[in-house]
Amino acid sequence: MASPEMPAAALPDRTVHVDLGDRAYDVLVGPDLVARAGDMVVSRFGKARAAIVTDENVAKHHLATLESSLRTFDRHLGTIIMPPGEGTKCFAELARLSESLLALKLERGDLIVALGGGVIGDLAGFAAAILRRGVRFVQIPTSLLAQVDSSVGGKTGINTPQGKNLIGAFHQPSLVLADTKALSTLPVREMRAGYAEVAKYGLLGDARFFGWLEQNWQRLFGNDPATLTEAIEVSIAAKARIVERDETETGDRMLLNLGHTFGHALEAWAGYSSRLLHGEAVAIGMAQAARFSEERGLCPAGTAARVEKHLRAVGLPTRVAHIPGPDRPDPKALFALMQQDKKVQSGRLTFILMRAIGDAFVTREVEPEDVAAFLEREVVLSG
Ligand code: GLY
Repeated sequence: MASPEMPAAALPDRTVHVDLGDRAYDVLVGPDLVARAGDMVVSRFGKARAAIVTDENVAKHHLATLESSLRTFDRHLGTIIMPPGEGTKCFAELARLSESLLALKLERGDLIVALGGGVIGDLAGFAAAILRRGVRFVQIPTSLLAQVDSSVGGKTGINTPQGKNLIGAFHQPSLVLADTKALSTLPVREMRAGYAEVAKYGLLGDARFFGWLEQNWQRLFGNDPATLTEAIEVSIAAKARIVERDETETGDRMLLNLGHTFGHALEAWAGYSSRLLHGEAVAIGMAQAARFSEERGLCPAGTAARVEKHLRAVGLPTRVAHIPGPDRPDPKALFALMQQDKKVQSGRLTFILMRAIGDAFVTREVEPEDVAAFLEREVVLSG
């Protein structure tokens, strides 16, 4: 892995190619990509014009830079600014966004540019999937979580009262620009939440990367350009290889849900609120997956302690007791929330468990009563 001492100016962009045949695309990782987006659009998409979709918070930091870059090449079709927050991923906002894009006279050959975190990427990507039966879109993710996870792989969609992401489409972006400098405006709590997904790639398939993170996480949180670039590139490459094998999640892509079966139940219990961010729920869920695996003798003793030690070192929660607030979830309610998981098949939950750090596997061979008993122990486990 690269030396973390290299100055930013000396760093060339890194490119991860996502090889999906006629839907293949590049993910570029590097500094100042927002400011260079106009150049990228012209060199890769010729005369296509670009409509930017962003939210009010991201607009304050990055919109002027992106608009000016597109205007330099006369490629800016217009900008639509959405309200920030998960609530924007709904039918009403999708309708408003789609009609606004049509009002801009976005044509089939034009581009939608999603500038923002996971909410904007999912919503703008879904609008791109359905507008004029599908237009191309570019992801410019501005959160660590969106850079290493949601902007790559083509999952797009909205939420409904029945659950998260239940309406959507697989629609791959045509280009992803992960601007490492954009992360410097990110609050540290958001950075940590995104880091949970970075650590996930180490835990699920790359022990060496997990060891490297244990050594280098402080540089990453200090926004050291080379460390950030390396961690983001390795994470995206790990995701790309899995998506290439299983684009529509019938097998291996489920590995990306390490920590999510446990984590989603906690997130739902906390009302998808700022009390527990998605990445924080995933951190607890990964520690739980490790504890559950270790209790069942699937991985060596000490595995869960090592996972917890690292996640705690960066400031992430690893136990239910670490969730702020006076109340604790009822284990039976948590179990019921798990049963609503999208990945339930014929009544059996899908779990991602661990044989070791860097060696996760997908299984349905888990008895519901074992999970229920585990959750009883988890909610009383002290910090
Ligand atoms: N975030 C999991 C996936 O893209 O499959």
